[in-house]
Amino acid sequence: MGISKQLRVDMVHGSWIRKMFDEGLRLKAIHGAANVFDFTLGNPYVDPPPEFLTALKRAAAEERHGIHAYMQNCGFPEVRAKVAAELSAELGFGFTAGSVVMTVGAAGALNVLLKSLLDPGDEVVLVAPFFPEYAFYIRNHSGVAVVSTADDTFLPDLEDLDRKIGPHTRAMILNSPCNPSGRVVTPEVLSGLGDLLRRKSAENGRTIYLLSDEPYRRLLFDGRTYPSPFGHYAHTILATSHSKDLSLAGERIGYLAIGPECEDAADIFAAATFCNRTLGYVNAPALMQRVLLYMDSYQPNVAIYQRKRDRLFEVLTGMGYEIIKPEGTFFMFPKSPIPDDPKWVEVLARERVLVTPGTGFAFPGYFRISFAVDDTVIEGSFPGFERALKSVRQSA
Ligand SMILES: Cc1ncc(COP(=O)(O)O)c(C=O)c1O
Repeated sequence: MGISKQLRVDMVHGSWIRKMFDEGLRLKAIHGAANVFDFTLGNPYVDPPPEFLTALKRAAAEERHGIHAYMQNCGFPEVRAKVAAELSAELGFGFTAGSVVMTVGAAGALNVLLKSLLDPGDEVVLVAPFFPEYAFYIRNHSGVAVVSTADDTFLPDLEDLDRKIGPHTRAMILNSPCNPSGRVVTPEVLSGLGDLLRRKSAENGRTIYLLSDEPYRRLLFDGRTYPSPFGHYAHTILATSHSKDLSLAGERIGYLAIGPECEDAADIFAAATFCNRTLGYVNAPALMQRVLLYMDSYQPNVAIYQRKRDRLFEVLTGMGYEIIKPEGTFFMFPKSPIPDDPKWVEVLARERVLVTPGTGFAFPGYFRISFAVDDTVIEGSFPGFERALKSVRQSA
């Protein structure tokens, strides 16, 4: 094989989520799709809202000269101005079109930012459990991932972070609401984190940037409002997308927004614009940008996910599973009934229930359920969840 040695390793060990998804395909071929209960993929369940379809039809019907051509690499100015105005209204800070770069999803935003900020060997601190692609993104840009472990309620552990943030730390990625735990970082922890990052930046003699990855920001349950890190740390840069709140994961539309008070904001904006081009994204999809421009404000359909969360939580905890109730996202991260979570995932797979081991999120001893699935999958999985739990308890 002509591919790099590193990539060969990554492709084998790279993704538990994919591995379990493939296992699902195998089981479905044997048992029929209706008899396999697949909770592995984080693909949104609800369809995009009617406001999206109306805006899409309007954008598609336009016939102005040049609307499908290249544009500024940061995106259409009027779209960035709209995003900035919405962010300012939502978060209470003075974002402008010059703070916003439209990107190819949140993944594009993160890659552009890491490319913009990292010199070879610079460290990026992650809080486990984390979205496993982060480790690849960091290495894409010659950085080194340093992993801090969350506390047992899945909140960042400030004492551990104090140990993990060192002289080479350039950035930290924070993900709230969190994939896989569904946890929302509290204002108290954000405040402590802000203090810690300011102290460490002063010690290092250079600013540590907080990259706040928020594609689930609007998927919050029980009427929660989102505690944003911007008010706690000036050097925050938001990376996000409409993959989850508008269910547009396949359309690849997202953006990054640099905090108005962030150090070197203008340089970072210019670098991110440049990297959007040189990483080969060139710009975020033009049609989707115009759709955002024409879209009325909307509320994501959180009620559907909340109902699914409640049903799963109630039934699984009733059986004896230990779960911290998710506050957002469409993920749940129960404790594995046996310490060896990959083995537990195999036990469940024998019952044709497919989940992802916590090991895949650098957090062994747990497993992830993606409940962006049909109710029939949820209801059909319960006997398997129960039998699997009984079987490991009996053999304990
Ligand atoms: C935490 C987190 N960040 C980033 C992404 C990537 O999002 P996008 O599809 O918008 O690139 C995902 C996708 O699942 C995610 O869960």
